Amino acid sequence: MVTMAPPARIGPSILNSNLANLASECQRMVECGADYLHLDVMDGHFVPNLTFGHPVVQSIRDNLGDKPFFDAHMMVSKPEQWVKPMADAKVNLFTFHLESTQQPQDLIKQIHESGMKAGCGIKPGTPVSLLIELLHSQMCDMALVMTVEPGFGGQKFMTDMMSKVKSLRSEFPGLDIEVDGGVSPATIQHCAEAGANMIVSGSAIMRSSDPKGVIEELRSVVEEYGVRR
Ligand code: DX5
Ligand code: ZN
Repeated sequence: MVTMAPPARIGPSILNSNLANLASECQRMVECGADYLHLDVMDGHFVPNLTFGHPVVQSIRDNLGDKPFFDAHMMVSKPEQWVKPMADAKVNLFTFHLESTQQPQDLIKQIHESGMKAGCGIKPGTPVSLLIELLHSQMCDMALVMTVEPGFGGQKFMTDMMSKVKSLRSEFPGLDIEVDGGVSPATIQHCAEAGANMIVSGSAIMRSSDPKGVIEELRSVVEEYGVRR
């Protein structure tokens, strides 16, 4: 029997774009067929890098209008602090890290109450059992499996993270499962086969001379496996 997998969606990460032209880079991705935009928020504390926060996200929203779906990947130490500002910037999906909070259940409720969807991610060293346990007690809208150590674009894809994706997919057949880090046409097959349906890809898309073609290729591989499952 074929199980209905959630739809394949491709979210370019604009971390490795020309950040001085952020709004036009985001617009370019939308025009290339991005299903959503993955916005990497880093505070220099939870991860050893610094990017941007809600004022910049608000500016991108003002430039792009309400339509594009924003996934804010919050690589920050106090995610609770940024729920309201990100909701005000019309972020659609607020993705926090399980390692960054003592009260993930309360945080999911806070995100939902502010009108956003909630995503919860785990770093490579965090066992998937902790995320599965959370989802059984407080369901969220998306589970993120990091396939690199968070902090920088352009790193090597960790194939051994696929067992986490498989566990999540078998436990939650209808859940949105996202992978992030080192995902490209060379590694997408692993993600698709394991059951991921939300695909973040940064440098492979941003640095390509044919970003539209890369987005289409990533989506078609995921769709192929989604139907097979
Ligand atoms: C890394 C970020 C990723 C990164 C992905 O911490 O969360 O979103 O930008 O970029 P690539 O696809 O180049 O690994
Ligand atoms: Zn990310």
